[in-house]
Amino acid sequence: MILGERLRLRAVEKEDIDRFVTWLNDPEVREGVAIFLPLSKHEEEKWFETTMAKPATEHPFVIEINDDGSWKPIGDCGFFEIDWRNRFGEIGIFIGEKQYWNQGYGSEAVRMLLKHGFNTLNLNRVFLRVFEDNPRAIHAYEKVGFIHEGRLRKAEYRNGRYIDILLMSVLREEWNNSR
Ligand SMILES: CC(C)(COP(=O)(O)OP(=O)(O)OC[C@H]1O[C@@H](n2cnc3c(N)ncnc32)[C@H](O)[C@@H]1OP(=O)(O)O)[C@@H](O)C(=O)NCCC(=O)NCCS
Repeated sequence: MILGERLRLRAVEKEDIDRFVTWLNDPEVREGVAIFLPLSKHEEEKWFETTMAKPATEHPFVIEINDDGSWKPIGDCGFFEIDWRNRFGEIGIFIGEKQYWNQGYGSEAVRMLLKHGFNTLNLNRVFLRVFEDNPRAIHAYEKVGFIHEGRLRKAEYRNGRYIDILLMSVLREEWNNSR
């Protein structure tokens, strides 16, 4: 368990598969992430098995909020593809319970991931990819201190057009100086 101010991050369990299927089949949630097809429970079960076979450092977390004394799952985040020699990792996040968007939970979860990445995993650089037409996510990452570092031009085909993927990162020294 990783505790934040209003959130906690816990390990994903098999029992979470159903809620992941529900969240990721919501077109508005899916719009911001790499998944672009309706997702079946079977596919999500396969994803769970594949993910659990990876190193524990790359297992995702369930984001939970304290809802009147009990913890309520609202989304998922975590590191994947950690490069241990160069000490960087990529993060991803989605909040599947849309009523909790725009309340600072996404940026808090990303802040928790940064702390985990720098203070526990001992990374030197944390980066992410985000679609150029996802201003909510971009704004959340900027708030947390992510720097725009590049643009993969027309790298994603969505809704009948090509869009750019933005690359953003935080270096350990920037994170240290910001606290
Ligand atoms: C992206 C996501 C994780 C952000 O989480 P969140 O809890 O909504 O984000 P926060 O509330 O911390 O920050 C969002 C900020 O963007 C702002 N914002 C919202 N819509 C915006 C828009 N159209 N243009 C600019 N800023 C916008 C919010 O006002 C807020 O800023 P503020 O705190 O200064 O008011 C969440 O919206 C989500 O899961 N979206 C669907 C999946 C997704 O896109 N994942 C990201 C993949 S890279």
